[in-house]
Amino acid sequence: MRSENFIVINSEVSHPILAKAARLQVLGKSPAGFYLRLNKRIWEHLPSRVRDLHSVRSYEAWLHTLACLSAKRQQFFGTFFLRNRPALELMRRLAGQKPHGSTLRIAVLGCSIGAEVYSILWTIRSARPDLKVILEAVDISKDILSFAEKGIYTPDTSELVGASIFERLTKAEMVEMFDWEGDRAKVKSWLREGITWRLGDATDPELVEILGPQDIVVASNFLCHMSRADAEKCLRNVVQPVSPGGYLFVSGIDLDVRTKVALDLGWEPVRELIAEIHDGDRSLRADWPWAWWGLEPLNRKRHDWQTRYAAAFRIGSPERR
Ligand SMILES: C[S@@+](CC[C@H](N)C(=O)[O-])C[C@H]1O[C@@H](n2cnc3c(N)ncnc32)[C@H](O)[C@@H]1O
Repeated sequence: MRSENFIVINSEVSHPILAKAARLQVLGKSPAGFYLRLNKRIWEHLPSRVRDLHSVRSYEAWLHTLACLSAKRQQFFGTFFLRNRPALELMRRLAGQKPHGSTLRIAVLGCSIGAEVYSILWTIRSARPDLKVILEAVDISKDILSFAEKGIYTPDTSELVGASIFERLTKAEMVEMFDWEGDRAKVKSWLREGITWRLGDATDPELVEILGPQDIVVASNFLCHMSRADAEKCLRNVVQPVSPGGYLFVSGIDLDVRTKVALDLGWEPVRELIAEIHDGDRSLRADWPWAWWGLEPLNRKRHDWQTRYAAAFRIGSPERR
């Protein structure tokens, strides 16, 4: 409830009339919802060169604001194996810089039922079997976490996340990652090693002590469920465990919030694969501008585009946080 209140307050400050219009109900129906659906139908028939026009892009951004104002944000558990391949490729490249036989510490916050955790481990351990990868997997939901720890997935898992968790995997990857018994897939034991499954809250100010220093912290697709004010506070918290010179991967968050915090704290955007990672999770890009989690198209004409669209940042000394 607290989060929803914050959204209304934030949005009302910047768009007071639109906020009222977005909340208006006529005979129990939302005119804003109807307006958005109507536009969506029209959009489906617009050629991409028209959608790329500056004025049309601005109108899209306005529609997105309306979508944010008219919807209530809520937490989802949705996740996929190999959800964003370019982001995993960047992690693989960063892990590649570690000396032979060294230890790599990774924390995955908001890990849901574990697909992201196992995807990261599969990517890095396949490329660098010499590294000792130690991973802290944190989620606020106990039930979700115990599911994740078992590492067993079936077609019914899709009911929990709303889509097939395997849908982004090739047949070969499904064989490499799982031991199969009928339609029951168990994550291979070499991917289940070295993980601490931890019930925890990414907003907890003690997170830094609980996790200890990390080479990489990953915070994907849970900050967008929070109000902007809560997300900003949480983002400033999740960066704390990153060791100096380490990396924060943060996606699925309001881009204004991420840009503001990144500029405030002097984070250095990782320039490799910016566009690929931005477009790498098709569920987020496809839902722009109709859903509050939808991700705007990358716009290189913005003066701040690298900071705005980077999902990975190199983090400096602790004094700058
Ligand atoms: C949509 S899932 C994202 C899963 C995964 N990170 C991904 O990108 O596919 C969001 C997860 O974040 C968890 N979550 C939400 N708020 C959290 C918080 N404050 N601390 C830790 N986990 C949180 C939820 O329980 C849920 O499992």
